[in-house]
Amino acid sequence: MKNGGNIADEIKSRCNIVDVVGRLVQLKKTGANHTGLCPFHNEKTPSFTVSEDRQRFVCYGCGASGDVIEFVKRTQNLSFLEAAEKLAEEYGIEWAPAAFDTDGRKAAYYEANREAATFFYHAFRRLGNPALPYMARRGVDDATLRAFGVGYADGEWDSLCRALSEKGVDEKLALSLGLCAVSGERRYDRFRNRVMFPIINTRGKIIGFGGRALGDDGPKYLNSPDSRIYHKKDSLYALNVTSQEIRKADRAILVEGYMDVISLYRHGVRNVTASLGTALTQGQAAMLKRYTDNVVMAYDADEAGRAAAMRGMDVLREAGCAVKALRMEGAKDPDEYIKANGRERFMGLLDEALPYMDYRIGVERDRHDISSTEGSLAFLKAVAGILRKASPVEAEIYIKKVSSETRISEGAIRAELSGAGAPGGRQAPAWTPPGREARAGGQSRAASAGAPAGSMPERNFIRLLLSDSGYLPRIMEYERVFVTPALFRIYSAIAGMCADGSEPDMRRLADSLDEECLAALADIRENVHLAGSDEDVFDGCVRALRLKELSERENEIILLLTVANEEDGPERIRELTQELLGIQREAKGVKGR
Ligand code: UTP
Ligand code: MN
Repeated sequence: MKNGGNIADEIKSRCNIVDVVGRLVQLKKTGANHTGLCPFHNEKTPSFTVSEDRQRFVCYGCGASGDVIEFVKRTQNLSFLEAAEKLAEEYGIEWAPAAFDTDGRKAAYYEANREAATFFYHAFRRLGNPALPYMARRGVDDATLRAFGVGYADGEWDSLCRALSEKGVDEKLALSLGLCAVSGERRYDRFRNRVMFPIINTRGKIIGFGGRALGDDGPKYLNSPDSRIYHKKDSLYALNVTSQEIRKADRAILVEGYMDVISLYRHGVRNVTASLGTALTQGQAAMLKRYTDNVVMAYDADEAGRAAAMRGMDVLREAGCAVKALRMEGAKDPDEYIKANGRERFMGLLDEALPYMDYRIGVERDRHDISSTEGSLAFLKAVAGILRKASPVEAEIYIKKVSSETRISEGAIRAELSGAGAPGGRQAPAWTPPGREARAGGQSRAASAGAPAGSMPERNFIRLLLSDSGYLPRIMEYERVFVTPALFRIYSAIAGMCADGSEPDMRRLADSLDEECLAALADIRENVHLAGSDEDVFDGCVRALRLKELSERENEIILLLTVANEEDGPERIRELTQELLGIQREAKGVKGR
């Protein structure tokens, strides 16, 4: 049998033992541990203890102890492999054959990274290297540099390669860890002239590196590629140093970059970690949740940072965390902020961090110009999208809040929330038939209020059919115009009756219709007078329909564009903008006719 060591590590680091045990045993938090009644022997007072730190359980009554896999194995009577497989499946951990590897092999990867980190560290400590003054200039003191194991990759092309081979590190291994690279015959150091930040997991293993450029060569930060021991999407920076601080504070400050962590730490804010890059993953959220349920997002203050913060907040909420977000002014990121304003002001920001809903709505407000109609509409849609995910009570609070802070009525927000914009929901026509006053709520309410039901083209089409059923085939092409249920039923009845080319028989028609339709029909016969020739009327209806469709698509694109900024590339934005211009051009043409 192959050794399941690697997958076991993976499982142990991803399945929080407190959650797994908690499903079976009622646990109570007592200090750093959780206690409950032992599932392995009969007892009345709890002597079963789970340590979240160590990810192990132990019973002081019967002596049972082990890790999360052992727990599942014993409670469910499974073999080690079956238990591991079960957990892997439940937590969505890929059980790839590659994950079966010998522990020894994996250890060689850790060892190679450790050699590299030592090499970088010594280089950093050597006099005359430019990284030390650089970090000093950035205000980082020596104790902090040591705590994070900061190092220096020199500008020569092969000093690390040579050091590693002297230490007997396998070449292929160094390649696959992204420490070295090859070009033709030549091997060279991948990290050159950079400040090196080792990425260390909570078990103290060096799993990768981030390198900050000291000169102008290459990207500002160069990171280790994913490897057998580094999975970016499941790693958080600095947890080896800060996880206990996070647990103690019962709150984590989540930042974007290496320097943000280091700078906050240096200023005494230590319950901090970084998602390295921007898109927070479920794996990272689950890892953070091992230490706390409370997360404050402190991403960069630019639009990209805000968008990433919002997505990150969604991920964290899904993981069951309570999330807030900082709004920094006058600084690009936490590093700059705390350097300029000091610890106290930063702590003040933390106290003022906005709850999830306020932050998201605030960001949308900044994004839209709500003094314009289009802006308001897009803002309204965005708010509805946010509130749709809220509990009814929460939604109610924010409906009131948004309405009182903008000119948008509570009714409009509720309407948007309850249907119009919902995927698959019925489109409530926000459209005013030409020549008619806008009426909130549209047709359906109009009918019950005794006012005429239906839009201009709907009513005119029916009037046309009544006077000349020869229009049926052409109107059928546009039957999507009928969105008022009663008018659609009238239209269908007429269409059924006249399919063979005969004129509608009013008595038979009346017999086949219900009250509501009869009232609508009578109203149309009485009040709709076709202005102009039948042909002009038909043409007018078709144009009105087209204008309505164009305006709906226009609104949709405006909404899409606000979303496209963050989700899609410039290509998609160009496409949408082109379509928008096309629509506006066409609408102008249709109106001008
Ligand atoms: P920033 O560009 O905001 O970096 O990227 P920073 O932390 O403010 O860096 P300094 O202050 O100029 O040194 C935030 C994070 O995004 C990732 C890194 O993890 C970085 O810490 N990043 C950024 C990269 O991986 N590559 C890049 O080229 C840039
Ligand atoms: Mn910065």
